[in-house]
Amino acid sequence: MAMMTMNKSAIVSQLAQVRVLPILVTDDVDQAIRCVTTLAENGLPAIEITLRTPNAMTVLREVVKACPTVTVGAGTILTPAHLDAVRNAGAAFGISPGITPTLAKAAQESGLTYFPGVGGASDLMLALEHGFDVVKLFPSDLVGSVKMAKALGGPFPQVKFCLTGGVTVEMTPSLLQQSNVLCVGGSWMCPANLIATNDWSTIANLARLAAQAGK
Ligand code: 3PG
Repeated sequence: MAMMTMNKSAIVSQLAQVRVLPILVTDDVDQAIRCVTTLAENGLPAIEITLRTPNAMTVLREVVKACPTVTVGAGTILTPAHLDAVRNAGAAFGISPGITPTLAKAAQESGLTYFPGVGGASDLMLALEHGFDVVKLFPSDLVGSVKMAKALGGPFPQVKFCLTGGVTVEMTPSLLQQSNVLCVGGSWMCPANLIATNDWSTIANLARLAAQAGK
């Protein structure tokens, strides 16, 4: 499916099906394209590219161009300017590690499919005030992971969570059993050391295992 045509519900449906969202941190365009292609060919067709490196916006733009069948999202969105920039770079969606009133308002107005980060009930109430009912629980392992998602499901039954931060392939199947967990996100299938050494066969193997853990 071409990225440009995907609206929020198509993206959420894809995440509900794949259930594992790789998180890529790299500053090298060629390695990013190779990595995203490898992940997609091995069962992971959606990706979050973080804005944590100086060249990240170029990486994002070039991956979007080179991988039209991959759902390419942008992570580490911290400011309204980031929202504009990733939309111009062609990102299918944006993700933040947290939420602020300024960013939530800008995201709501931008029309970009957006998943704010939450660490608890107050963050979630702010997200819902701005219409965001699919959120990233971050850092998942430190704020309670699946137990937190389950507890928040009481007052907020309409919300779905992407658990991110400290997730491993081993824990993925059990996290995904919780009914309000949409998906998990993580960098374990594309770690910096394997990208730096162009170890695409190991990344392919880790992607297959991650995709399998999501089934
Ligand atoms: C993120 O950006 O969400 C996290 O860095 C991903 O967490 P992980 O590296 O622990 O998988």
